[in-house]
Amino acid sequence: MTGTTLSPDLRTSIGALDLANPVLVASGTFAYGREMARLYDLSILGGIVSKTITELPRAGNPPPRVCETAGGMLNAIGLPNPGVDVFLREALPELRQAGCPVIVNIAGETTEGYVRLAARVAREEGVAAVELNVSCPNVSYGLDFGTAPSRVEQVVRRVKEECPFPVIAKLSPNVTDVTEIARGVEQGGGDAVSLINTIRGMAIDPRKRKPVLGNVTGGLSGPAVKPVALAMVWKTSRSVRIPVVGIGGIMTGTDVVEFLLAGASAIQIGTGNFVDPWVAPRVISELREFCIQEGIGSVRSLIGELKA
Ligand code: FUM
Repeated sequence: MTGTTLSPDLRTSIGALDLANPVLVASGTFAYGREMARLYDLSILGGIVSKTITELPRAGNPPPRVCETAGGMLNAIGLPNPGVDVFLREALPELRQAGCPVIVNIAGETTEGYVRLAARVAREEGVAAVELNVSCPNVSYGLDFGTAPSRVEQVVRRVKEECPFPVIAKLSPNVTDVTEIARGVEQGGGDAVSLINTIRGMAIDPRKRKPVLGNVTGGLSGPAVKPVALAMVWKTSRSVRIPVVGIGGIMTGTDVVEFLLAGASAIQIGTGNFVDPWVAPRVISELREFCIQEGIGSVRSLIGELKA
């Protein structure tokens, strides 16, 4: 059933994963949902992508780990997390209560590490999909799998053998041609790609003559990266048949429309959650309002409809 222009249909999907609306929250900006659940009803979200989980607990990088930049922020967090055992025991049961799809983001140091994590997560109830973090610029192995099409293809293929649910690969912009990496995901049987993760950058304190971040370099996100993300989403959506999830500086309902037009089937809000914790509910309302004003019955009719 499609909506009327007074009640637009916001439903979309990422392959086999049906979503009530295209607005998800991005890994690393929403922790495991506990704090945000005090602010609003998480069931209104299209989905939650949880902070990257690794096999063993990680303390993360030395501080300072974040700093503001023009139109954005740099982070060099370093994948701090309690490890998969604690995540499954303490965080996932609460996430399941959110009332929206939960996508678990995982990172391994090796192919077998990803496979073991995926197998653990696959045994759990209430997981809608996994997102493979093959694009973290802040840890030594973070980009190992996300910068070579053959490596991403191999890890996706092996993870798919373990997972009864969709496998999404989160891609880095720090590559020569992101479409080649996306094609590797597709050839490995991946269900979708999400992009972009952060763009490697740095900030310098000129008086101290030192880098601002403890890790020296970090990843740039926020509105400053939106044009880069739009171009990469647009190019990628024309290069693969699997769905694309857009990420990069989304702060408003019309930002979402731009990503849908560029070819994204859904989007994730990341840095926006730090600027305004209520950004996701506001963006959903703004998206609905845009559809009413423009006479759009279904958001799906916007996907890939850029006239270029
Ligand atoms: O450093 C971090 O925890 C960030 C992760 C990422 O960008 O994937």
